[in-house]
Amino acid sequence: MAHMHITSWVLAVILIILVAILYKQENTKVGKILHMVLRLDYLFILYTGASLLGEYLSKDSNLGHTGELIIKVIAGLWVIISMEMIGVKTGKNKPVKSWWIQFVIGAIIAIGLGFGRLPLGILP
Ligand code: HEM
Repeated sequence: MAHMHITSWVLAVILIILVAILYKQENTKVGKILHMVLRLDYLFILYTGASLLGEYLSKDSNLGHTGELIIKVIAGLWVIISMEMIGVKTGKNKPVKSWWIQFVIGAIIAIGLGFGRLPLGILP
């Protein structure tokens, strides 16, 4: 499940960059299609994230790290919100810099805690 979680958020990062570039170039047709694909991918991130969360909460696991886990989940949700705001605002030619900053901060926290601190996943 960790592999699927990583695949889904890496895909999302690629897609939001493509969507932002396409909307900026006024290529709204392809941009809108990729934006819809990105929205489907949010569900994939949420499903795999929730499933990892389920592993923590299953009664026979005692993994600890509850505080960091809560921050990780909030940061992950924050990244998804930021990506959606970037997509919508860029599509409407509205200012979007603050959402890019939030996206980067949220992603640093989620990736840092996910790979660096939390015990599930692919890294030893
Ligand atoms: C785009 C947003 C997200 C990013 C960049 C992200 C990043 C990561 C990374 C790097 C890991 C570690 C994987 C590993 O060590 O193999 C991870 C694990 C995890 N993620 Fe996310 N995630 C995101 C969204 C979410 C969401 C929305 C949730 C909750 C619904 C969530 C819940 C979890 C859980 C529970 C784990 C397991 C932690 C562990 O490694 O022990 N993530 N995530």
